Amino acid sequence: MSPPPPECAALGVRGARIPGPVVRSGLPLRLLLLLLWAAAATQGHPRNVPRISTVWKGRTGKDQVEFGSAEPHTVLFHEPGSDSVWVGGRSKVYLVNFPEGKNASVQTVNIGSTKGSCTDKRDCENYITLLERQGDGLLVCGTNARRPSCWSLVNGTLESLGERRGYAPFSPDENSLVLFDGDEVYSTIRKQEYNGKIPRFRRIQGEIELYTSDTVMQNPQFIKATIVHQDQAYNDKIYYFFREDNPDKNPEAPLNVSRVAQLCRGDQGGESSLSVSKWNTFLKAMLVCSDPTTNKNFNRLQDVFLLPDPNGQWKDTRVYGIFSNPWNYSAVCVYSLGDIDKVFRTSSLKGYHTGLPNPRPGKCLPDRQPIPTETFQVADSHPEVAQRVEPMGPLKTPLFHSKYHYQKVVVHRMKSSHGEIFHVLYLTTDRGTIHKVVESGEREHSVINIIEIQPFRHATTIQAMSLDADRRKLYVSSQWEVSQVPLDLCDVYGGGCHGCLMARDPYCGWDQGHCVSIYSPHRSVLQSINPEEPHKECPNPKPAEAPLQKVSLAKNSRYYLSCPMESRHATYRWRHGEKVEQSCEPGHQSPNCILFIENLTDGHYGHYYCEGQEGSYLHKAQHWQLLSEDEAKAEHLLGRAQALVAFLWLGVLPTLVLGLLVH
Ligand SMILES: *[C@@H]1O[C@H](CO)[C@@H](O)[C@H](O)[C@H]1NC(C)=O
Ligand SMILES: *[C@@H]1O[C@H](CO)[C@@H](O)[C@H](O)[C@H]1NC(C)=O
Ligand SMILES: *[C@@H]1O[C@H](CO)[C@@H](O)[C@H](O)[C@H]1NC(C)=O
Ligand SMILES: *[C@@H]1O[C@H](CO)[C@@H](O)[C@H](O)[C@H]1NC(C)=O
Ligand SMILES: *[C@@H]1O[C@H](CO)[C@@H](O)[C@H](O)[C@H]1NC(C)=O
Repeated sequence: MSPPPPECAALGVRGARIPGPVVRSGLPLRLLLLLLWAAAATQGHPRNVPRISTVWKGRTGKDQVEFGSAEPHTVLFHEPGSDSVWVGGRSKVYLVNFPEGKNASVQTVNIGSTKGSCTDKRDCENYITLLERQGDGLLVCGTNARRPSCWSLVNGTLESLGERRGYAPFSPDENSLVLFDGDEVYSTIRKQEYNGKIPRFRRIQGEIELYTSDTVMQNPQFIKATIVHQDQAYNDKIYYFFREDNPDKNPEAPLNVSRVAQLCRGDQGGESSLSVSKWNTFLKAMLVCSDPTTNKNFNRLQDVFLLPDPNGQWKDTRVYGIFSNPWNYSAVCVYSLGDIDKVFRTSSLKGYHTGLPNPRPGKCLPDRQPIPTETFQVADSHPEVAQRVEPMGPLKTPLFHSKYHYQKVVVHRMKSSHGEIFHVLYLTTDRGTIHKVVESGEREHSVINIIEIQPFRHATTIQAMSLDADRRKLYVSSQWEVSQVPLDLCDVYGGGCHGCLMARDPYCGWDQGHCVSIYSPHRSVLQSINPEEPHKECPNPKPAEAPLQKVSLAKNSRYYLSCPMESRHATYRWRHGEKVEQSCEPGHQSPNCILFIENLTDGHYGHYYCEGQEGSYLHKAQHWQLLSEDEAKAEHLLGRAQALVAFLWLGVLPTLVLGLLVH
C-alpha cells in the first residue's frame, strides 16, 4: 500500500478560485442552486458557532515525517521540553526528532513479536499500544500476537519484560486505558482473552488489586482516567470518564449516556467475601452537555482534556469534554473538578430513598480503614448519584457547538503580551484537520475560531495528539506520518497589520511589517485581541488591497467568483461598479461568498470587488476584472487551456456542496 497522492488530499473548498478560462459547459446550474438552497434551508445557524477560514499546511520536511509504510494503529509519547516524540507502531517504535530550524528525522527500533500459537492473521502482529516513561528508559507494551507483553528501552537497548496482562490488550481495537501514578498502575484492559468479557476498571499494580463490580457499568467505553491528589492523601481520588448504555430504555431516551466515575485511591477493598477484591468507593454521575435554549443534547462523550489550575488548586482544574449527537455534530462543555467532587460528596443516590448509611457511599476513609459492608451494599446496588454534573458558568450550557465532528481535544493556557489569559482549544475533526478555537478569558461563552490546520501531507484520520504546553508545539500522528505543529502560526494571516490584528490570534502580533509570534525574541509586538476593532491600532490607516486578477470570458458563458470569508464577524459583498451583486452575512453556510453569473452578457464585464466589512473595517479581499475575448486579446491574455474548463467546473461542484453540507 502506498499513501494517496497529496493532490487528492489537498482538495478542499477553502479559497477555491477558478482561474482564467472560459466556461461554456458543465452541470446544470439549477441543480447546483437547488443543492445550495437545500443545504441552506436545513441548516439553522446556532449562536456561538466558530468559523474557520485561514488554513495552515505544514512544510514538507520540517514539520512532517512519513513512516514509509502504513501504521494502522499509532500511539504517541512526548516528554514536555524535548524536541522529539516517540511513536508506537506495528512491531516498531519510532523516535522522531524535530530539531529547531532543521528538517525532521526518524530512527526506528524494532520490537519484533512472538508468533507462538496465534492463528488469526491480522491479530498476530505486535501492535504497540502503550509508551510510558519508566526510570531512565521507556516502557513499551504491545499486543504481541495475542500475548500482551512489555519491553524496556534504555539508551537504545531493548530488554524484554515478558508477558504483562493488563498493560496491553489482546488486539488493538479494544477499549483500553492505562493510568500510571508513581508505582501504581490502573487499567481497563481485560486480563483473560476469553473469560471476563465484562469491562472493568482495575488497580493492577501498587496496593491490593481491586476491580469494579460487574453490575455498576453497562457496556462501558472508557475515554480518560486521572488521579487527583487532594489536600489530604487519604482523600486522593481517581476519576474516569466513560460512555455506557442508557439504563433508561424509554424510546425517547438516548441510547448512550456519558459518565464520570470516582474511586478513592486509598480504597483497600471491603470486609465481606463479596466486597473484598472490589472497589468499595465507586460512584458514577451523569455528565450533561445540552443547550436548553436550542434544546440540543449532546450525549456521546468523545474525549476529555484536564487543564490544571496554574495555582495548583485541584478544585479549579477545568475538564473539557467533547460530545457529539446522533448527527455527529459536536459540542464542547467545560466542567470543574470541584463541581464533580461536590456532586459525589453531597448528592443522594438515584433510586435509593431511605437514609444513607454512615459513612456515606463514596467517602474515603483515613488510616486504611475498610468500608463497612452495609455502605458497600448500598453503593453497589445504587452506584449512580441522583445529581448530574453540569457545565461551569451561570448558564450551564456548552462553550460552543458546531457542525463538525470533533474527536479529540487538547487545551493550551497562554498569556497574551498584555498578560491576559486565554484558553486555546485544538480540536481534531473527522477529516484529519485541527481547529484552533480561542476561549476568551474575559467573557464567559465567548469563542473565537481562527484557523484550520492541515497537519498532514495525506489528509486522513488523526490517531493521536499530544501537546507540549511549554514549547508550544502539538504532535499528531496518522497511519502515514507524524507532524509537529507550532501553536504560534502567525505568517498565515494575510492582509497586513489589519489582517494580522483582525485575526484576534492571541499568539500573534504586528511588528516591523510582519505578523509575528509574540514569543519571537527581542520584539515588542503590537497586539490587540479583545477590542471590537483591533485594527484601529495599526500604524497605517488603510488595509492592504487585494491585487487585481484578470480573466477572459466568452459571452453566454457561466462563471462564478469566490471570496473566502476570512472573518466570522464580517459581512462580505461582491460589488460590480456601484451595485452590490451578492451579500453574505456572518453565519453564511459556506466558507466562501460566491457570486454566480449564469449567462454572461455585455453588462457583466468589468471590475468586481469582494469587500469584507466589520464595523469600520472595510477590507477589499478580492479584485477581479472580467474581460471580453477582444479585450483579452488586446491584453495578450488569451491562449489558456480551455479544455480545463469542464473539468474544473465538475470538480468544484461536489466540493462546494460538500463544503456547504458539512459546514
Ligand atoms: C528538507 O526537506 C525538504 C523536503 O523534503 C527538502 O527539499 C530539503 O532539501 C531538505 N533540507 C535538508 C537540509 O535536508
Ligand atoms: C546511556 O548512555 C549515556 C551516554 O552514552 C550514559 O552516560 C548513560 O549512563 C547511559 N545510561 C544507562 C542507563 O545505561
Ligand atoms: C450505545 O448504545 C447502544 C445500544 O445500547 C450500544 O449497542 C452501543 O454499544 C453503545 N455505545 C457506546 C459507545 O456505549
Ligand atoms: C458518525 O461518525 C461515526 C464515526 O466516525 C460513523 O460511523 C457514523 O456513521 C457517523 N454517523 C452519521 C449519522 O454520520
Ligand atoms: C444565454 O443567453 C442567450 C441570449 O440571451 C441565449 O441565446 C442562450 O441560450 C443563453 N444560454 C444559456 C446557457 O442559457
